[in-house]
Amino acid sequence: MTDALGMMAGLRVTDALLDAPLDISMTVDGATVAAGVRPRYLLSDFLREQAGVGGVHVACGHGVCGACTVAVDGTPVRACLMLAVQADGAVVQTVASLSELEGDTAPGKDGLTRLQAAFRQHHALQCGYCTPGLLVSTALFLSEHKAQGRPCPGRAEILDHLNGHLCRCTGYANIIAAIESVLA
Ligand code: FES
Ligand code: FES
Repeated sequence: MTDALGMMAGLRVTDALLDAPLDISMTVDGATVAAGVRPRYLLSDFLREQAGVGGVHVACGHGVCGACTVAVDGTPVRACLMLAVQADGAVVQTVASLSELEGDTAPGKDGLTRLQAAFRQHHALQCGYCTPGLLVSTALFLSEHKAQGRPCPGRAEILDHLNGHLCRCTGYANIIAAIESVLA
């Protein structure tokens, strides 16, 4: 009986700890965003609700589809799988920072980055729900190859990269064509 009561008390303490807000702050697309959040609060919710970034899309919510991909300290992350408190102090870049992620100092006409223009030209999106995450992770994918001195990844590498993204409407042929069209 005593043990059972002890376990219940322990559970109450755990629940209280899980619900106690923690003050965190991070840089989101160049602006500092601070808030008190529960430890279980997801980074995707923080970005949408606290930072007001509508370009972070949540589809599966389970780390499968890639729609919520953002850059955290330069690394692609599924925001639906990361707790906001884990990103405390980090630099987070969403699709709103796409020109920086692409290393594009001068976006083209219409204000589109090279990848955005290529997606439009090749009809690589339809509903657009998967697109922000796809653009962010593709920009990181291409800049990683550039940093390695391999600015033109081959078809197999592009297909491997796209493994992490589900597009329910356009199909992948146009997405591949768009990505290949921006290779130097
Ligand atoms: S919403 Fe995050 S991976 Fe699908
Ligand atoms: S364009 Fe609709 S899910 Fe990809």
